[in-house]
Amino acid sequence: MSSYKRTILITGGAGFIGSHVVRLFVKKYPEYRILNLDKLTYAGNLENLKDIEDLPNYEFIKGDIVDNEFIQNLFKTRAIDAVIHLAAESHVDRSISNPMEFVMTNVIGTVNLLNAAKMSWAQSSAADSLSERKLFYHISTDEVYGTLGASGLFTEETSYDPHSPYSASKASSDHMVRSYHDTYGIPVVISNCSNNYGSFQFPEKLIPLAIHNIRNNRPVPVYGKGENIRDWLFVEDHASAIDTIFHKAKTGSTYNIGGHNEWKNIDLIHELCKIMDRKLHRSEGTSAKLITFVKDRAGHDLRYAIDSSKIQRELGWKPSLQFEEGLEKTVDWYLAHEDWLQHLTSGEYLHYYEQQYSHR
Ligand code: NAD
Ligand code: DAU
Repeated sequence: MSSYKRTILITGGAGFIGSHVVRLFVKKYPEYRILNLDKLTYAGNLENLKDIEDLPNYEFIKGDIVDNEFIQNLFKTRAIDAVIHLAAESHVDRSISNPMEFVMTNVIGTVNLLNAAKMSWAQSSAADSLSERKLFYHISTDEVYGTLGASGLFTEETSYDPHSPYSASKASSDHMVRSYHDTYGIPVVISNCSNNYGSFQFPEKLIPLAIHNIRNNRPVPVYGKGENIRDWLFVEDHASAIDTIFHKAKTGSTYNIGGHNEWKNIDLIHELCKIMDRKLHRSEGTSAKLITFVKDRAGHDLRYAIDSSKIQRELGWKPSLQFEEGLEKTVDWYLAHEDWLQHLTSGEYLHYYEQQYSHR
């Protein structure tokens, strides 16, 4: 019999957002057993979790959510009380060149987890309290809503209208999660978040890519004319929203998460260039010379912007950081962790698991 109050399976915990969620839960809730299930694709990196890997309530499990037998066995052998599901293929450009990978992980992988939870939780009756309930918490994106024009915000009632293979696969997984609630009574919650930024983000995404390239005097690619707008949220604020929703949201509910922080890509890059000039002691305007307009992304959504009033009103969550402060913190982190970036770009980090875990 486990001495832990609950065993929580976090999928994709070696990725960007997942590592922040794992860290927050492992440190804040020593009474929870946290299982981090991750395949360690190019985007998964155990170096992101070095500071907590030896804590007694943390365990890493290498595995693929697409492997149904493995997932079924995991749920049979571990008494999993709740799932926070972040594992996914997450990069829009990669989904354009390889959509099937996104269907496999984001759709089939999600359904495998839902089936295993359904099997494992079949005998349990609904708990009275939110803190004891079984829960399948699915982490999703604002991209399922498609694109906005110059005005308006995505609310929880906005119709789904995904355009990229990535967003279509996430929309599909959201629908599957809701269908398991409505059809089989599986206790689920979904949240849809805007663009995250912060430490440990793989440098294929706009902000870490730009920081990395500016640091190394390489061109900073801006798609099209840089007119597209994204609503940026500091990753630790997303993790705190996930904590809030996990503990407080009613079963069957959906919440949008965002920072009320819209930036045109080109303005964001100019802001980043200014910070980088200051940090690297370059004269003003040096980094901006690296900006290079390149061919636009196919099907590029113009604007995302989240109305997060529901989570603020009902659950009392709000972002903690102003963007200027968050961006500065982020730049400082990447500049201080050049070794982390080097390991990624050289592929060296992929050996970390073998070194750390093969003999355990
Ligand atoms: P990421 O690409 O940094 O990490 C994904 C993680 O999932 C990696 O550790 C990877 O190894 C793991 N993974 C991939 N395929 C797997 C598989 N088949 N089996 C097990 N593990 C697998 O992604 P992220 O940016 O941290 O996003 C995490 C989640 O949050 C995703 O579901 C994404 O759709 C969602 N999301 C991301 C953002 C954002 O701005 N990054 C915003 C809203 C929602
Ligand atoms: O909105 C939430 C989504 O945000 C998440 O669901 C995705 O997982 C995450 O990858 C992110 O998607 P985006 O496509 O918005 O993020 P990305 O960093 O790839 O691009 C941000 C914007 O910058 C977008 O308009 C495309 C543009 N861009 C991106 C890259 C990589 C460029 O102009 N140049 C680039 O090199």
